[in-house]
Amino acid sequence: MVLNVDSIRGQVLFRADCSMCHPSKARLHYNLEGVVDRPGEPYLKRYLTKQDSLLAAKDPYATTLIEVYNGVRGNHRFPYSDDELNYIIAYLR
Ligand code: HEC
Repeated sequence: MVLNVDSIRGQVLFRADCSMCHPSKARLHYNLEGVVDRPGEPYLKRYLTKQDSLLAAKDPYATTLIEVYNGVRGNHRFPYSDDELNYIIAYLR
């Protein structure tokens, strides 16, 4: 992990909002390792703020994830600013 201020801010957000379901990015729970490069940053920002709209549009990546996790849904609709999304992405890298 690159230790910089943005990734530390991201870690704080992650611990508050994500870690109850994703214990840590390193623990691979729900497989967050490499996730920034898998769907790409713009997609990830939409996914974290508007998962519902991706599912409503039958987006293939979002719908496949639900299948892979047997219908368990994360309800990712976090009202983050673009800065906050960038911090989380810096942390997830
Ligand atoms: C209530 C539990 C819960 C919370 C809170 C949660 N997630 Fe998730 N997350 C899930 C589940 C379940 C999945 C897989 C199914 C799905 O798509 O909803 C998932 C999937 C993901 C994925 C897609 C993984 C992949 O392989 O592409 C990302 C990225 C992600 N979460 C990031 C986050 C981040 C960042 C936060 C905090 C801002 C967060 N999640 C909060 C439960 C949660």
